[in-house]
This record gives sequence, C-alpha cells and structure tokens, in this order.
Amino acid sequence: MTDFSSDLTADTTEPTEWWRTAVIYQIYPRSFADANGDGTGDLRGVTSRLDHLRDLGVDAIWLSPFYVSPMADAGYDVADYRDVDPQFGTLDDADALIAEAHRHDIRVIVDLVPNHTSDEHAWFRAAVVSPPGSPERGRYLFRDGRGESGELPPNSWRSVFGGSAWTRIEEADGSPGQWYLHLFDSRQPDLDWTNPEVREEFHDILRFWLDRGVDGFRVDVAHGLVKAVGLPEWDHGQELLEGATAGGERPPMWDQDGVHEIYRGWRKVLDTYEDRMLVAEAWVEPAERLARYVRDDEMHQAFNFAFLTSGWRAGALREAIAGSIEANDSVGAPSTWVLSNHDVVRHPSRLSVAPDGGLVNGIGSDDPQPDEEIGLRRARAATMLMLALPGSTYLYQGEELGLPEHTTLPDEVRQDPAWFRHHGEVAGRDGCRVPLPWQAGAPANGFSTTGRSWLPQPDSYTRYAADAQAGIEGSTLELYRAALRIRRERRTAACTLAWAEGYDDSVVAFNLPEARVLVVTNLGSEPVRLPEHAAPLLSSEPLDEHGNVPADVTVWCSVPGAS
Ligand code: GLC
Repeated sequence: MTDFSSDLTADTTEPTEWWRTAVIYQIYPRSFADANGDGTGDLRGVTSRLDHLRDLGVDAIWLSPFYVSPMADAGYDVADYRDVDPQFGTLDDADALIAEAHRHDIRVIVDLVPNHTSDEHAWFRAAVVSPPGSPERGRYLFRDGRGESGELPPNSWRSVFGGSAWTRIEEADGSPGQWYLHLFDSRQPDLDWTNPEVREEFHDILRFWLDRGVDGFRVDVAHGLVKAVGLPEWDHGQELLEGATAGGERPPMWDQDGVHEIYRGWRKVLDTYEDRMLVAEAWVEPAERLARYVRDDEMHQAFNFAFLTSGWRAGALREAIAGSIEANDSVGAPSTWVLSNHDVVRHPSRLSVAPDGGLVNGIGSDDPQPDEEIGLRRARAATMLMLALPGSTYLYQGEELGLPEHTTLPDEVRQDPAWFRHHGEVAGRDGCRVPLPWQAGAPANGFSTTGRSWLPQPDSYTRYAADAQAGIEGSTLELYRAALRIRRERRTAACTLAWAEGYDDSVVAFNLPEARVLVVTNLGSEPVRLPEHAAPLLSSEPLDEHGNVPADVTVWCSVPGAS
C-alpha cells in the first residue's frame, strides 16, 4: 500500500440522508468478540470493540440477529423478536450497545427476519397443537398433503438449504397431519403474509426497536414474504439464495409484486421517526426489478448481489456497476456495494477459487484450495474498487483484516443447516463465520479470554490478527483505514461516476469528477500506464518502478480538473 494522501484537507460535513453514502459494517455477533469467555461472541463483546470500528472509520454497524433463538440457523430462526438471547446478553446490553455506538458516532442497524419464525416461536407452538383451519394455523402456510392419505407434500417446492420445502406434522391426537412450508430449514416455518395479524405484529416489532433507538433494519429475505396465489408448482432446484430468474420465469416464491405493499406500510412506520432506514436483502434480478424495492415510498437501499457475484472480471464488474447505478438513479435511490457477508465465501478466497464469478457454497477440505496470496491481492484491489464507487458500502467483519475463508473446518464442528440438509455435499457457510482474531498469539487470538471459540480458527489467523496489523504500513487494516479516510475527506461516495476512456477491456477505470479522483483497477496481466496528470493517492499494492499499475491492483489518483 502506498498512501500519498496526507496533504488533503478534511471535509467531514455530514450529508443529509446519511445512508446514501454510508459505510456500514456487518457484525455477526457470535463471532465478533466474546466478553464472557463462553466461546460465543456477545453484545458486550461488541461494545468493548467499538473503538476499533471508530478508528476504522465506519458510519454504521449492522448486527446479524441476536434475538431469542434455538440457533437452528444461527439466529435467523427467531423465537422472540423482542428479547435478546441469553448467549448474546440482555436487553440492557442491547440498550447499552446502541447508546455507546451512538457516542462513538456509529449508527446501529438491526436484522429483521420477517419471512419465517423459529419453530419455537409461541405462534408456531400454538399452531401445531391447534386444529387445521384454526386462526393459529392461519399465521403460517399449512396445507393438506397430496396422495390418498395426504402422504405427499402439497407441492414440489424445494428448500433453499436442500430437500423439500414442506414438513409434515403430527396432529394433537397423534395422527399424521398437515404440512407446513419452510423455504429454509424445517425449523424456520414461513409466515403467511396475507394474514393481517402477521402484518400488524411486524409493525409493532419495528416500533419496539425504533423506540430503543436503532437507526434502521436489514430486512432478511425481503423478496420472499409473498407467495404466488395457490402456491403453483415449481420443479426447478433451488440454489442457495438464488431465485429471481430461471429461463425468464419468476419463481412463485420470490419477488412477487405483493411484497411492495408490505414495505410501503413499513416505510410509513419509519417515517414517523427521524433518519431511520431499511435495507433489503433481496436476491432479485435484473437490476430494474431490484430497484422496485427502493422506490421513494419503500425501502432506502437494497443489497447489490450482482456486484458480489461478478467475480474478478472487468466486463462483468463494469456491467454490474453501470446497471446498478442506472436502475437506482431511475428511482432516486443510492446504489450499494458489497463483497462479503455471512452467507458467502470471504472474498479473498472467493476471488482466488472462483474468479469467473457466481456463488460458491462454501469450501471444504476436499475442494480445490484457494491461493492465499493471489486471493488477498485481488481482494485488496476489489475492495479499493468497491470503496471508490458512489453510494453506500457494506463491509463484513474481518474483511478489514483480509481474513480468508476457513477452508479446512472438520465436519464435526460444522453447524450450517445447509451442510446437513445437503448431506455434507456442500461445505456451507461456517467457513466465513469463524471468530475474529484480535490479538496475535493470545488464547483464540483474543476472541475470548478463555480461548474458547465456537468454531476453531485456522492457524493463519494469528498472522491476520488486528493487533498484528495496526500501525503496520501496507497491512490490510491500514489500507482500509486509509481508503475510508480518503473516501470521507474527498466525499467520493457522493460523486457521479464517469467511465475513463482509453483503457483496455481488462481495466475498470472511472473518474469521480466532483472529487477530482481517477480510479484504475487492473484485472489484466500487463501493467497499466497512468495519465501524466494523475497523482497517486492510495494503491492496493505498490505501483511498479515506472509508476504503472501492476496486475490485480487498484489505484486512486488525484487529477486536476473542473469540480
Ligand atoms: C438470509 C440470511 C441467511 C439465512 C436466511 C434465512 O439469507 O442472510 O443467513 O440463513 O436468510 O433466514
């Protein structure tokens, strides 16, 4: 890393509508920091590490679920939306975290899981002991089975995690009973969003957390709440969280027009508070369909998975960038950018094993292993490209350390339901959820005081520990800090993007005219010459001896020009 930017003047003016340019850092609470030493991260652990996030320079945190849950899907199976699971702490800890984060000038976004509850939620417990057709069953999608005695599932839908999307229950009298729909694990029954009681409940849950001071919600599986009337057949397989297009048809469980009315209702609730936002996790294509979630009376942002799945290909990246900006501009919404989260292989490993893009459903010991050096080099370049793009950016905990995926986890420690439901044929998501290394060489590298850790760290994490990188020139942590500082000072995220002419197809190059910044990412194999007038501000690796941009490197340059 080369940082030539110290002569910049600071401009820390807060933009209105903070989310439009925000850097939002995802915390996966059970793997961030463990304050009580039981091997699982907790809310007090998060509070204890807020200084790290302030020094990094993020604007907000998004916390993956910490609500009461039997953890069949790591908290995305919520048993009580208004309380904290004891393993993460208490409601008082949540209040303290929100207050402390705000004191650090960091906003707080919490996760809302509306598509399904846990099978241990009071509503589902009541539903299984109530008769078919009862109001209790009417909150979920119970149906009679097909076949002579209802022994076949009501339709052919598959679970995202593998296997059928239906599970049969035993009725109160012990006889084989109805089936319920679960697009994910059988312990995550889908709610019936045509039921007004479900809608009211979620308005109330929104208010519960807004009243506690949260600044927004990340909405889980936002494209799944409404199913096509009559639950028509869909024989196609179901890839992990993919689902918007298959031969042009829209699957009957995803991206149905009816979801938008729900979000318009939520927006009204949020608008009675100040400055709060909603971000959709919606795996929807093309960009125009996704833009419907961020029309001006719906959500504020939607994750951009087209960018994440572009791999390390200049053409695909350019297309994803241009397509997102155009579609979002058409509805007045900011674009968002993301490379890693708790559902996908960490990008240093992904860009090594899958440079052609797409999703990789985990990496196991028997799979081709990533090249750590190439992967990290590309990841740093990809991150600098992402952080230069106009709009809002999401970071996933540990990416600021350059952490690779844990690709050799022993089978017996795996917990992802996708691994179990695919009978071990796909590694699943545990490898990106490994607890963070804070202090090189300390027990569990400082994740917990006792050395306990719900998933083991790979040996390499000692090298990546935060304290081994802080203050070290060229470290990934210092690269992120420098990039976020320049982004803030030059307000690059509020700029327009103008493609730069005269570069090879294997280069992504654009200007941010208002900031007088040129960004060049070299995805080819030959060094790329910079224009004479370009003065490098920051590069993901050193430029070569001629001042050219080597392969797999991004550079930000200061350029003269009209502002
Ligand atoms: C979302 C979450 C994922 C979870 C799924 C079911 O995609 O990000 O972790 O398994 O929804 O709630």
